[in-house]
Amino acid sequence: MRDFDEHNITQAVIDRFAATPDPRLKRVMTSLVSHLHDFIRDIEPSFAEWQAAVGYLTRTGQMCDDKRQEFILLSDTLGASMLVDAINHRMPAGATETTVLGPFFIDGAAAFANGADLAKGVEGETLFVEATVMSAAGAPLAGATVDVWQSDAEGFYDVQRPERDEHALRGRLRTDAAGKIWFRTIQPAAYPIPYDGPVGDMLRATNRHPWRPAHVHFMIAAAGYETLVTHVFVAGDEYLDSDAVFGVKNSLVTEFTRHQSGTLPDGAPIATPWRHLSYQFGLKPSADKGAKHD
Ligand code: BEZ
Ligand code: FE
Repeated sequence: MRDFDEHNITQAVIDRFAATPDPRLKRVMTSLVSHLHDFIRDIEPSFAEWQAAVGYLTRTGQMCDDKRQEFILLSDTLGASMLVDAINHRMPAGATETTVLGPFFIDGAAAFANGADLAKGVEGETLFVEATVMSAAGAPLAGATVDVWQSDAEGFYDVQRPERDEHALRGRLRTDAAGKIWFRTIQPAAYPIPYDGPVGDMLRATNRHPWRPAHVHFMIAAAGYETLVTHVFVAGDEYLDSDAVFGVKNSLVTEFTRHQSGTLPDGAPIATPWRHLSYQFGLKPSADKGAKHD
């Protein structure tokens, strides 16, 4: 076939994928072509605009390396990451809602015993975290692996501080027989997502801000349950309703209660004001009962 025009080209391209052996790939390519062509018909780009779009995606790719993933950041800021997350995590009652992983997770962070101080000398207001990991049905889960990571009081993760030679404000804990973990850290701060690349250009050009409300990340794995990737957000943060990556859910927002001074929940005296986060997580049983991770 030849003589393609704006009316017949979409079907012609779809037909070109007719012999795709993998039915899922065939469906994906058919849908991609059909939506891409609809998008082009909708906006009717000039050649200069199309070139600018290709240039934008090229710069996005060129910004990616083992430390920076600009395409995921683009997916996050376009709400695509949270849409994929929502489709893949339709949770039963009692299971904690999920949210984006983000770029600052490190697999294999140092292990800590319950009660440890994850701040490793980083300054800030003391935060005492207590959490219980339960099944969605309400049974405490002993021996669950809990990865936590968070920003410092100025909104930076350890990996964004090249002057630091060791990790801080992150670690892996294990739940005790009652499904509990507890540790000391510092109060996290709101922070802007990295905006020195193409994603920042898009945010500026569209009058959007790059801020995320203050939160602590949790990744919780237990045998027989889907691994939970989520955050707990600080109630009252000014960016809860305008998170740059659309990650906030009401059920994940809680008070990080401020106390003037006195005694921490582990009995240690403290002379300065401190915060207390207490949260209960619920894990969804995995379809494959024997699987450690989803
Ligand atoms: C984060 O919470 O660490 C994060 C999530 C998405 C994009 C950037 C940062
Ligand atoms: Fe974060």
